Amino acid sequence: MSDKSYYVTTPIYYVNDKPHIGHAYTTILADVLANYHRLLGVPTWFLTGTDEHGQKVQQAAEKNGLTPQQQCDQTVVRFQELWKRLEITNDDFIRTTEDRHKVIVQEVLQDLFARDEIYRADYQGWYCVGCERFFAEKDLVDGNCPECGRKVDAIQETNYFFRMSKYQDWLIDYIETHPEFIQPDFRANETLGFLKTKKLQDLCISRPKSRLAWGIELPFDKDFVTYVWFDALLNYITAIGYKRDDKKFNQWWPATHQLIGKDILTTHTVYWPTMLKAMNVPLPKTVFAHGWWLTGRTKMSKSLGNVVNPMEMVDRYGVDAFRYFLIAEMTLGQDASFTEEAFIRRYNSDLANDLGNLLSRTVNMLGRYCDGKFPKIGNSALDGAPEKELWDTVQQAVVEMESSIDTMRLNAGLTAVLTAVRKVNQYFEIKQPWTQSKEGKTEEVGITLALAAESLRVCAALLYPVMPEKMSVLRAAFGLGKPDPKLLRTFGVIKAGTAIKETTPLFPRVEFKNEEEKPVNTEPVKVEGVITYDEVMNVKLRTAKVLAAEKVEGADKLLKLQIEVGEEKRQLVAGIALHYTPEQVVGRTIVIVANLKPAKIRGVESQGMLLCASIGDQMKLITVDGELPATGAVVK
Ligand code: MSP
Repeated sequence: MSDKSYYVTTPIYYVNDKPHIGHAYTTILADVLANYHRLLGVPTWFLTGTDEHGQKVQQAAEKNGLTPQQQCDQTVVRFQELWKRLEITNDDFIRTTEDRHKVIVQEVLQDLFARDEIYRADYQGWYCVGCERFFAEKDLVDGNCPECGRKVDAIQETNYFFRMSKYQDWLIDYIETHPEFIQPDFRANETLGFLKTKKLQDLCISRPKSRLAWGIELPFDKDFVTYVWFDALLNYITAIGYKRDDKKFNQWWPATHQLIGKDILTTHTVYWPTMLKAMNVPLPKTVFAHGWWLTGRTKMSKSLGNVVNPMEMVDRYGVDAFRYFLIAEMTLGQDASFTEEAFIRRYNSDLANDLGNLLSRTVNMLGRYCDGKFPKIGNSALDGAPEKELWDTVQQAVVEMESSIDTMRLNAGLTAVLTAVRKVNQYFEIKQPWTQSKEGKTEEVGITLALAAESLRVCAALLYPVMPEKMSVLRAAFGLGKPDPKLLRTFGVIKAGTAIKETTPLFPRVEFKNEEEKPVNTEPVKVEGVITYDEVMNVKLRTAKVLAAEKVEGADKLLKLQIEVGEEKRQLVAGIALHYTPEQVVGRTIVIVANLKPAKIRGVESQGMLLCASIGDQMKLITVDGELPATGAVVK
């Protein structure tokens, strides 16, 4: 690998498993990292694939009356289709049943056997079918598999072994002198702890065909096939031309990031490096182990029925939102919890309210106040203090995002971008382009909207690797194509006169029309007379100013009010005529329910509901204590 290339891999997934959120996560993470590097102009290679040999596939094939290869061919499609649906941009997809892999595995075995790195011996041990691994008696927990807790079978047979034990001291030293090799640090300590306290055994790398026929045949003994992990780990190099295409191999190897879940740490930080050492191949730069996705606080498992199906999530909420949630929610290395409720909360707040809304507001106002064209702004656009502050926050997001890729803290990078997005929303409240326009300050309106659009341009570029589809739509609104990282620090990229494109809401808010539509596994328990936080947050309370008021003819209790809510004008009918005259309410700041479905009251359209305090026959308007710079303020 040259310093300037990036090679990222995912584990190759067992083809008999149904893809779930865990598989989707590792693959999306690899995709996001690959996208960032491609965007930065770094030559990038992204590999994923499927692990197709072993007992589980053989058993599934027998059960379904298929050959093992037919079984694989049928089930591999589930992964390939999911990756397509999730906008995964892998450069290659390796299947361990392909000739390009099998032939090289055999060459590696032959070479290691010839050099006495592999030897034949009799073996007695305990075998776990689920994990496809042998364990020594002393490693069993209550007589069961130490990894998964299932029953193990006593096995006595002749097998072939890789001299892994002789590399124990070398491996300890390598890990200690290469802190970047196992990430995060605490995972390196986990492997070191194990290496320093237990004697490493030689690794059994064969299975007699009489017990398992579905595997790569040992080139030096036709009665045996290769142990599935020895076969599978080699995919990372067979796919890039090891022993066949030196140019390609040297361009990508050593891999930059080998992403794995914490469940397969030992195979990737003990078996894999010792295998490579024996083969005289350099080690990958970093094996990065992420944590588990849990359902709430519980491990996902088929028997508990709490496994999240990525396809369902994507069908319901869209690919980009799903990708965003997974990357934003998990602190790399630690476990994270998935609930549909948390998903919806983050979706509504980050994507629908903050980002999506900001785009709609900006596009609408450019349409209304700038004739739908990007305004011409001078060099002094960044002179004002609020402008400077906003642009600084946006630039801070650029810095944070760049460093978060290097340090694998992508969620922190996304937080910084969302902070910048919120800053633009605050900036609007300070500058009030709707007031600027009313006051005829055309140039100032132009600056305000240009600042917002330029900030959105940069934020969309930073979010592009995570949400390529939606961010393309966002950028297209300003006549922009694929982001260019060279322009992240430049102000004034959108050309004056660019026609602004109207967009449909990027992330429509997720509302539940009724209780049945709520996600089943996360439905809160209903308590009589109590409402949930989400229900409160669904009610949008806003301040408004009464611009004009008059009585509704033929209805003595009703006043018809013309109000201003932020940049919007609305009409509202309120039952306050017995307590307030029209003159008494004009000019007052009131509080309204802004997202009430419009209705006709006595034939008069009413868009919202005004809040009053009432006791007995007394009624008082709810108003704001003191002045706020604008109407439309959120009441919470
Ligand atoms: N075939 C082996 C890997 C061989 S790599 C040379 C394997 N396959 S697997 O289908 O079981 O996939 C394991 C990987 O899926 C984990 O390492 C992790 O990347 C991902 N996940 C599976 N379940 C997960 C969660 N609940 N949470 C997060 N990721 C997990 O092991």
